[in-house]
Amino acid sequence: MRFSHARLRPLDALMVALVTGGAGYVGSHTVVALCDAGHEVVILDDFSGAHRRTVDTIRSLTRQAVPVVEADAADSAALADVFGRWTIDSVIHFAALKSAPESVGDPLRYYHANLMSLISLAEASLHHSVSRFVFSSSAAVYGSPSSLPVTENTPTAPLNPYGASKQMCERILADMSAASGLSTVTLRYFNPVGAHRSALLGEDPLGPPANLVPRIVQTMLGGDRPLQVFGSDYDTRDGTAIRDYVHVMDLAEAHCAALNVDMRDRSSRVYNLGTGNGSTVLEVLAAAERAAGRAVPHEFRERRTGDSPALWADCTRALNELNWKPRRNLQQMLDDQWRFACANLADRAR
Ligand code: WQD
Repeated sequence: MRFSHARLRPLDALMVALVTGGAGYVGSHTVVALCDAGHEVVILDDFSGAHRRTVDTIRSLTRQAVPVVEADAADSAALADVFGRWTIDSVIHFAALKSAPESVGDPLRYYHANLMSLISLAEASLHHSVSRFVFSSSAAVYGSPSSLPVTENTPTAPLNPYGASKQMCERILADMSAASGLSTVTLRYFNPVGAHRSALLGEDPLGPPANLVPRIVQTMLGGDRPLQVFGSDYDTRDGTAIRDYVHVMDLAEAHCAALNVDMRDRSSRVYNLGTGNGSTVLEVLAAAERAAGRAVPHEFRERRTGDSPALWADCTRALNELNWKPRRNLQQMLDDQWRFACANLADRAR
């Protein structure tokens, strides 16, 4: 990375992006996509939800010495140091607590962590004249909508403190943008799945996973119990719940598009990031079995509290305005996730 003399501004970069939570699942894949697109990236991560070795993988895949600052995104002093050392054009904010079920039992921790990091980062971004703020939000803001597919105009009614914290962050950003003109892009992810094509980067949860696909992988790698399918009596084509699963690399590419979208007509935008297709739990299971070439032991259990029967996106706005289109299908998601798991998680499964 070559720098000008004035405050370390790279001479040939399209943009210098600060990516908080850049060692996490979606964050790390986005950093790779940003570097591949020619941007320079600075990662800020406290590694409370990510492995340090992920940074080495990012540097190896991008062949760049991507700088990393180990800090909490809510730490204003750490942010001041980052903005003092690099000329940051854009911010992409992933760093947050993200377990919906966990948030129900520990709401204050979720509100404090997710809101304080957003507010600190927004203040620093304003102070240092950042030109674009991209926010990692979630379909959890919709709760259990009455009509499907979900558009960005579907009323938000989160069912848990995690989703509510994302909804509050979105409101804070919209108000800040209206008052300051700082352009903000909020991306509402549906269900991220999959891994980088190299099988070097993928979903590697620090603690016991709560999400469906990592739990399928855990079962397939020799977990000591069958996968539990939560609910088989929903009013869906096979009785199991429907979600909109989207490849993590498609999500990553959407962030690159969000950095470049023309914002001259308005200062804040919101986009659904899904595929527009819903898949049932059993359909995901079948795709996983095709990826692994064998059956996945599973048992049907009661519905999980707080789950909605079905949730999938209408992504028309992102297709039209971001010039973004999800390119990978469900089978590719499970194939990539399985290849990563076999290459990186198999020795830790037991
Ligand atoms: C999917 C389906 C479960 C585990 C959450 C967050 C959302 C986003 C993605 C961050 C549901 C069923 C699950 C299992 C199962 N995260 N399931 N057995 O709840 O749709 O969304 O993660 O942005 O914000 O809310 O994802 O993967 O937990 O569940 O049957 O062992 O799989 O009941 O129907 P969810 P999930």
